[in-house]
Amino acid sequence: MITTAVIPVAGLGTRMLPYTKEQPKAMLPLFVGNLVKPTLQIIFEQLYKAGIRKFIFIVSRGKRAIEDHFTPDYTFLDSLRKRGKNQSIGELSGFYKKIESSTLLWLNQSLPLGLGHALLISRTSIQDHRFLVHAGDTVLTAPFEINKMLEICNNPNLKDVSCICVRRVSDKHLLKRYGIAEINSHFLISRVVEKPTHPTSDFAIVPIYVLTQRIFEILKRLPQDDSSEIQFTQAINHLIESGLTVQAYDIGEIRRIDVGSPDTYHDALSYSFKI
Ligand code: UTP
Repeated sequence: MITTAVIPVAGLGTRMLPYTKEQPKAMLPLFVGNLVKPTLQIIFEQLYKAGIRKFIFIVSRGKRAIEDHFTPDYTFLDSLRKRGKNQSIGELSGFYKKIESSTLLWLNQSLPLGLGHALLISRTSIQDHRFLVHAGDTVLTAPFEINKMLEICNNPNLKDVSCICVRRVSDKHLLKRYGIAEINSHFLISRVVEKPTHPTSDFAIVPIYVLTQRIFEILKRLPQDDSSEIQFTQAINHLIESGLTVQAYDIGEIRRIDVGSPDTYHDALSYSFKI
C-alpha cells in the first residue's frame, strides 16, 4: 500500500509563457464532464481515490494560487448557499472533505534546479520506504490504478523495486518530446533517455513513478548538469546501473494529457472531458 505522493509543481513552465509568468502551470484548467478544474485538482482527486493521503507539493515563488486553491473556504460556501448554487456547493465541499482528510505539505524549491532537485527536497518529509511521484502537468484519462502498478513492484525475491509508467507512442516525432524507456522482454527498464534526438524505443515515459528511499542516496550525489539541473532521468539510470530493478508499467490505452506545452495543452483540452 502506498499512501504518500510527491507532486513537484515548482518548474518555471517556460514552454507555456507568457501564461506562466505569474500563474502556475499546474493551475491550467481542464474539462471534467461539464466542470472546469485546475489540472492539479484532477491529479489530487485521482490520487485520493487511489488511497493517497499524504501529499507533498514542491512549490516555488509565484505558486501561492495553488495553496489558496487547496485551502477550504467555508465563508465562500455560505455565499454560494445564499445564492442557491447547490451543485457548486456539493462539488466544492466534496473537494474540501478530501483536503481535510489528508495531510498536505508545501515544500519550497528556491531555485528551479530540475525535477531531481525538486524530489530531493521531499527527502526528510517521507517516512515510508516506498512512495509515488506524480508530475504536476500530466493527467491520465482514467482513474489511476496504483494497486496494479504496485503488484508488479511486489516481487518477493527483489527488494527496492521501482516502477515507471510508460505508454507506446508510434509517432517518432512525438517521442522526441518525451523521455523514453528502453525495455527488455520482461518489462524491465535497461535505460531511460530524456527527449532523445534518435529514439531507441517507442515507449514514452509517463511521469508517474513508484520509488523507494534508494533514489535519495543517488540524487544526493548527482552533480548539476550543463544547464545547472539535477536530472531525474540520470538518477534512474544510476539506480539501474547499481543493480536495482526498475519495472515498466504500461498504461496501455489510457491516454496521457499533458498541459506542459501549447500544442499538448491544445490536445489536452479536447480530450480532458473524457476523464
Ligand atoms: P518540466 O520538465 O515540464 O519543466 O517539469 P517546467 O519547468 O515545468 O517546464 P518547461 O520545461 O520550462 O516548459 C515537469 C514537472 O516537474 C516540475 C514541474 O513543475 C512539472 O510538474 N519541476 C520541474 C519542478 O518542480 N522543479 C524543477 O526545477 C523542474
